[in-house]
Amino acid sequence: MSSPRTVIRGGLVVTASDEVHADVLVEEGRIAAVAASDSSAARSWTDAEVIDATGKYVIPGGVDAHTHMELPFGGTFASDTFETGTRAAAWGGTTTIVDFAVQSVGQSLRAGLDAWHAKADGRCAVDYGFHMIVSDVTDPVLKEMDILVEEGVTSFKLFMAYPGVFYSDDGRILRAMQRASGNGGLIMMHAENGIAIDVLVQQALAAGKTDPRYHGEVRHALLEAEATHRAIQLARVAGAPLYVVHVSAEQAVAELAAARDMDLPVFGETCPQYLFLSTDNLAEPDFEGAKYVCSTPLRPSEHQAALWRALRTNDLQVVSTDHCPFCFAGQKELGRGDFSKIPNGLPGVENRMDLLHQAVVDGHLTRRRWIEIACAAPARMFGLYPRKGTLAPGADADVVIYDPHAEQVVSARTHHMNVDYSAYEGRRLTGRVETVLSRGVTVVDRGEYTGRAGHGHYVPRGLSSYLA
Ligand code: URP
Ligand code: ZN
Ligand code: ZN
Repeated sequence: MSSPRTVIRGGLVVTASDEVHADVLVEEGRIAAVAASDSSAARSWTDAEVIDATGKYVIPGGVDAHTHMELPFGGTFASDTFETGTRAAAWGGTTTIVDFAVQSVGQSLRAGLDAWHAKADGRCAVDYGFHMIVSDVTDPVLKEMDILVEEGVTSFKLFMAYPGVFYSDDGRILRAMQRASGNGGLIMMHAENGIAIDVLVQQALAAGKTDPRYHGEVRHALLEAEATHRAIQLARVAGAPLYVVHVSAEQAVAELAAARDMDLPVFGETCPQYLFLSTDNLAEPDFEGAKYVCSTPLRPSEHQAALWRALRTNDLQVVSTDHCPFCFAGQKELGRGDFSKIPNGLPGVENRMDLLHQAVVDGHLTRRRWIEIACAAPARMFGLYPRKGTLAPGADADVVIYDPHAEQVVSARTHHMNVDYSAYEGRRLTGRVETVLSRGVTVVDRGEYTGRAGHGHYVPRGLSSYLA
């Protein structure tokens, strides 16, 4: 635990807009002041507990705007609970998650949201908010969307994929978009043509193509691009903003870029798995490829250059994890002999900040862009800024002391996510989270977990700053 007054001294403070050698004063869980390390103001902060950050970066806690703790999917549940998943987030320097509450078909949004509150309440290590997955667009549900926006659930995910589960047809999507255009909510879209994909799935299975790699082949890049294009046009017709989740295909990036060139309020995220992994992983032998089954799917590595470029040019604004872990043993194995039965999703909430720092080391991103896409932009996009995502007076004291020179090897043996494999097993990374403060409380202290379940609070969100 930290005292009510803490000063983080001597680090390089990196935000989305600045890099400055500065000391950070924390009082009562908030950033009280940031002042140049050699300033008289910083020297006057004498009656505080000191955290020495010499040689380290001092950065805002990460904001992961796309996680699925305990998601029911493919006949099983994502293996991280809110307790284990948010603890792993803290280990990885992420101090806020926005998870997806699910409305099942026939259910009210309220019932789905209440169920997700019950899962998370009192269990989280770091702060959390909710988006709402809308699976059943009806008149009463459209009215509920207005109420949820007022309450701080200001974004709604719709699916053009997964017929019979989460899928909405174009008419339902249009109606939800029209509602969002009236109430200020942000529609998040899973943009894949699920109807066409299901035809290709049946054809592949009938031809005896049952291995995990066929998951990538049937979920064709053009079917991501087509759905992205359609979602953009529907949003235009509705006069609504649009945020496309887990973008992986360069053709889908091109659709977003074209829309943004027309000044449309269209935004997108990608995820570390699309930046660092590829169809080569899906093709790993002995069913190991199942570890990499997610949707949208991993793409051939040639797509990665377009994703990195879009992150630099701001055609993509956010990197989230889509953390949705399933153990290889007993969960991914449900799809042996039929790739369509492999539960979709990858673990990653603990790895995002480090992988993106590696992108800085490798020259894909600047340090400030790292903080922009991992902290500031997701906070702004989802109505959490400036409370989250930056280090400025008045912000929550969610702070990471980051050692940019530490070397680590990623492994399931040492990670803290509740999943029996790592998608990045054996990868060498430069940089590591050293110490993490959540609202001024030290939850990770130089390699030791000092947090607790229940420290994390639910955070109602405002409207997206990108639409103001
Ligand atoms: O494979 C994925 N992405 N699983 C989680 C559900 C979703 O579509 O985001
Ligand atoms: Zn999705
Ligand atoms: Zn997801």
